Amino acid sequence: MLANNTKKALRSAARKLLAVGAIIIGVVGAADDVNAQALTGIRNTRHNLSAEVNGVVGGRNKSSAGEICVFCHTPHGSATTAAAPLWNKKLADPTAYTLYTSTTLDGTSDLTNSVSLACLTCHDGTQAMDTVLNAPGSGGYDPNGARMTGVTWSGANVDATSGKLVAAAVTNLGSDLSNDHPVGIQYANSSVGVLDPDFHEAQKVTGKNVWYVDSKVVKGTNDAKDKYDMILYTKNAKPYVECASCHDPHSDENATFLRISNSGSAVCLTCHNK
Ligand code: HEC
Ligand code: HEC
Ligand code: HEC
Ligand code: HEC
Repeated sequence: MLANNTKKALRSAARKLLAVGAIIIGVVGAADDVNAQALTGIRNTRHNLSAEVNGVVGGRNKSSAGEICVFCHTPHGSATTAAAPLWNKKLADPTAYTLYTSTTLDGTSDLTNSVSLACLTCHDGTQAMDTVLNAPGSGGYDPNGARMTGVTWSGANVDATSGKLVAAAVTNLGSDLSNDHPVGIQYANSSVGVLDPDFHEAQKVTGKNVWYVDSKVVKGTNDAKDKYDMILYTKNAKPYVECASCHDPHSDENATFLRISNSGSAVCLTCHNK
């Protein structure tokens, strides 16, 4: 029989080995597009708030819930005013946030109809992670949003009682966004091109009001729009910078869900021509 602390040490060593294994697989996978995509899905990220483990090792938050997408999306009864698809949480009033301003800004930050409101349903710290419009199973719909019954939390970053983000663990943006990069701000005119020469040219998908700024991180053989580009979100038929321009909520192939690594400020320099 092993002493309890020996078991603990073994378990932690095994966890470390798994983590190293995951990194190695990640590196090998990155050389191969298909593998890289399969390995970098939301299941292996911090946004997998379900009970399943799937290779995520150490320190992540887990609830006892059985589904992954439900924390954010629902097939029925979603928030009709949300710019994010089939959104399963009640959005805050866009005017509840204080936004970034400056005397040198050309555009105006405005969260009306903005997809950033979706991220803020959790990251402004006001709602429990498991507060949803439509809980799994039948009869789970509540237009005002309600906590899922029987769901419990473990881990340091979500408070076990309130179900809210623990501010000290993951930067809790709160409702004061005046010290955060502007979101809900227009990037370019509706034709291809930028508002001013301080920015790189936005690309437009032919025939659609869909824009992106090419990160030049070419995966595959062409540099058509892909998840490594800075995605611009369409409001009033014009391209806007939102949270998910820089972050991909479904992939933490790069730290903090960034679309590309910010080493050498690559995220910033994809858009800014400085
Ligand atoms: C933590 C929240 C979160 C979870 C969990 C989540 N999503 Fe999303 N999803 C978002 C947000 C925010 C957007 C809108 C921003 C964007 O386009 O990436 C989005 C957009 C999407 C889109 C449309 C845009 C695109 O990238 O194709 C699809 C499809 C999607 N999600 C599917 C899923 C599926 C399937 C799951 C579960 C396996 C899932 N999501 C889990 C937050 C989440
Ligand atoms: C359902 C609630 C929910 C939504 C919606 C959500 N997040 Fe999160 N997010 C979390 C939780 C919970 C964590 C912390 C998980 C952990 O540390 O285990 C987190 C962590 C993060 C982190 C830190 C990751 C790290 O490795 O340190 C970033 C960055 C982030 N989210 C960005 C976003 C963005 C951008 C969006 C919208 C596109 C978004 N989130 C939508 C719940 C959410
Ligand atoms: C212009 C690009 C950009 C935009 C827009 C942006 N972020 Fe970030 N975000 C970053 C970068 C880069 C980091 C990592 C650097 C750092 O740690 O500050 C980061 C870090 C974070 C973190 C901290 C992770 C942690 O572990 O503490 C959270 C949470 C987050 N972002 C959420 C959001 C949300 C929510 C929005 C929209 C309201 C948003 N971001 C908009 C670029 C952006
Ligand atoms: C998706 C494109 C995009 C990315 C990526 C991006 N920015 Fe921006 N940034 C903008 C836009 C658009 C504005 C608003 C410009 C305007 O209206 O004058 C802005 C505004 C700013 C401002 C305020 C300028 C002012 O006059 O007050 C600063 C500073 C800034 N960005 C720094 C950064 C940094 C640092 C990063 C990397 C972490 C970054 N940006 C990434 C598009 C981007």
